[in-house]
Amino acid sequence: MIALASDHAGYELKEKIKEYFEGNGIGYIDCGAFSPESVDYPLIAKTACEKITAGECEKGILCCGTGVGISIAANKFKGIRAAVCYSEDVARLVRVHNDANVLCLGGRVTGSETAAKLVDIFLNTTFDGGERHRRRIGQMEGIENCEL
Ligand code: RB5
Repeated sequence: MIALASDHAGYELKEKIKEYFEGNGIGYIDCGAFSPESVDYPLIAKTACEKITAGECEKGILCCGTGVGISIAANKFKGIRAAVCYSEDVARLVRVHNDANVLCLGGRVTGSETAAKLVDIFLNTTFDGGERHRRRIGQMEGIENCEL
């Protein structure tokens, strides 16, 4: 199950991604926004991220104007690794190296066809699982207690 969410600036793109999910039989929970009315992206990020940290959803797709604000908000939640992606290579690498569990997209900068491609790559690429990647992810989880 995928947590899908946007603010007003990502609303149209979110609705397109919903169509893509429905056309491809991908299960999702729409965490809002439910209209193009202005809404604060940190609160939208919170709604979606809590579905992931609770185990209700395995991954998330979050949209704002650039993808950046909502990714910063999402990364405040323990266990969330959110990545803004504008290219196919990056959408693949954030899975392979970073085990990113949230893909952030910008409704004002990324078209729906590109977004569908990025979503497809993100959802279908597996984490490399290599020791160095696991170590680095572990360091990020407890960064306050890590030293160089
Ligand atoms: C909203 O106008 C816009 O600031 C927001 O969607 C996002 O792009 C922030 O990073």
